[in-house]
Amino acid sequence: MCGIVGVLGQHEVGPILVEALKRLEYRGYDSAGIATVNGGRLDRRRAIGKLANLSDLLVHEPLAGKAGIGHTRWATHGAPTVANAHPHRAGKVAVVHNGIIENFRELRQELEAVGLIPETETDTETIVLLTRHYMDQGQDPRTAAASTLGRLKGAFALCFLFEGEDDLMIAARRGSPLAIGHGDGEMYVGSDAIALAPLTDRITYLEEGDRAEVTRAGVVIFDAAGRLANRAETRIEREATRVEKAGYKHFMAKEIAEQPVVIADALRHYLAQGGTALSLPEEIDFTGVDRISLVACGTAYYACSVAKYWFEQIAGLPVDVDIASEFRYREPPLSPTSWALFVSQSGETADTLAALRHAHEQVAKVVSVVNVATSSIARESDVALPSLAGVEVGVASTKAFTCQLTVLAVLALKAGVDRGRLDPGALARHLSSLASLPGLMNHALGLESEIATIAGQLSEAQDVLFLGRGPMFPLALEGALKLKEISYIHAEGYASGELKHGPIALIDSHVPVIVMAPRDGLFDKTVSNMQEVMARHGQVLLISDAGGIAEGGTGVWNSLTLPTADPFVAPILFALPAQMLAYHTAIAKGTDVDQPRNLAKSVTVE
Ligand code: AGP
Repeated sequence: MCGIVGVLGQHEVGPILVEALKRLEYRGYDSAGIATVNGGRLDRRRAIGKLANLSDLLVHEPLAGKAGIGHTRWATHGAPTVANAHPHRAGKVAVVHNGIIENFRELRQELEAVGLIPETETDTETIVLLTRHYMDQGQDPRTAAASTLGRLKGAFALCFLFEGEDDLMIAARRGSPLAIGHGDGEMYVGSDAIALAPLTDRITYLEEGDRAEVTRAGVVIFDAAGRLANRAETRIEREATRVEKAGYKHFMAKEIAEQPVVIADALRHYLAQGGTALSLPEEIDFTGVDRISLVACGTAYYACSVAKYWFEQIAGLPVDVDIASEFRYREPPLSPTSWALFVSQSGETADTLAALRHAHEQVAKVVSVVNVATSSIARESDVALPSLAGVEVGVASTKAFTCQLTVLAVLALKAGVDRGRLDPGALARHLSSLASLPGLMNHALGLESEIATIAGQLSEAQDVLFLGRGPMFPLALEGALKLKEISYIHAEGYASGELKHGPIALIDSHVPVIVMAPRDGLFDKTVSNMQEVMARHGQVLLISDAGGIAEGGTGVWNSLTLPTADPFVAPILFALPAQMLAYHTAIAKGTDVDQPRNLAKSVTVE
């Protein structure tokens, strides 16, 4: 999951490339680099670490030219070093690459046999060496690029630049997204529209297997079979791609705080008549559907895990939940009377996209819940439902998670109605509890100072456990993921009842145990589990409502009192304290909240 950009401009492109890379840093930030053609001469600058390091380098060693490519890297093959940083170059060709070339080792052997010796550990270098090989044989840049692309196996989004060609870029996509931007006498290439938004709102998305020859006059696109292809030019909502911190210290803080508003937006979109009726596309009709598969990664997978309880308890609809990277290898028995539902914030997660493609021909309908309407997953679904969270920049997913849960909750209600399991009274009660969410979330956000204090103590822990029962079990898993991915503290989520079957061996006075438990029908059993923990000097932080704190809060290390919520929406509400706890613990530890080490926002490699 790297970010790539290319510009054929009317002005110096160095600053433009860096600005575009800033908007792509969420895709990876192990290293960054640019290459330009100036007076026919190809040159590059590269730096490891954050983009700021490349900016510093360019101050001292500026790079002129009105044609250029840029890259921000999440390392797959080869450590984050300058040598392994993109753009890679061989002879008269440079390239930036997002993806993985699966046959790069055999291609390397072929190239070494003709004296083209790799200098780096990367798969990407094979691309420029192969192109150079074809150019050495007399092929022109366009032909050499096409010949190279025909030899590559794996996933890639690429942009080529050539010495002597200051009005040509070759772009290609297979498995990773790539957009072409149309300017006024300028043309652009970018991993997504967000990167190009300051430059243009006129975007053409390349399709799977496309190769594009880009000049300032425009773009010529060839499909996977090499035939001329006509791809639509669309207008993007530039406002929707705005990514500002709006006064918050971190994007994550802003995105946590936005949740009441974006949940209200999602409810307005999916409910009608003042929130008293469901409003979904007519294709969303669960009549005759006998099973659904919910498939996703990471936080989105935990959203699916919560939704399983809703679909099965409210609609009586059997649900399989799968981690996307496991889904197709399990060889699930899909059927023409089942649906497959994919949840993804970015809509570009390679594991989830691969699972979708595996399922597509085997189920009656592929539905997706995505936060980027123009994403690959959205475009390859039969029905794509927007999660309406707005642009989420923080690598740790927050508002997208609660918006995913909101959409999934509405879908579960629709399934209940379609299957005759939800009478109008019950539907009204569930809709009313959904409508109460923005207010409840605003209330929960008021716990921030208490949470910041607790986080200061939590930041000293080496290991943290999260416990939950029923639909709060996936919340325990999500809370653990949030904490570990931004504070780097080892954290695990467990079903409360599971602790005594082994993990309780971990408990001692140094281990905080965070119990996420509204005062619902499962609370009493959870209190018993808490007693087991405290009997072994475990430090329990109880997150509950007033009733739960009153009944089970005696002897705990600390507690957080959330507003009392209907059990149906409690999993959505309880996400907030988990997010804020992780955020403030990371602050206390001084880690990079928005761009944690080793991570990226969109994982576009399998
Ligand atoms: C969430 O905090 C993580 N950054 C990560 O687990 C993420 O949820 C996962 O990679 C799935 O991403 P997607 O929703 O864009 O598909």
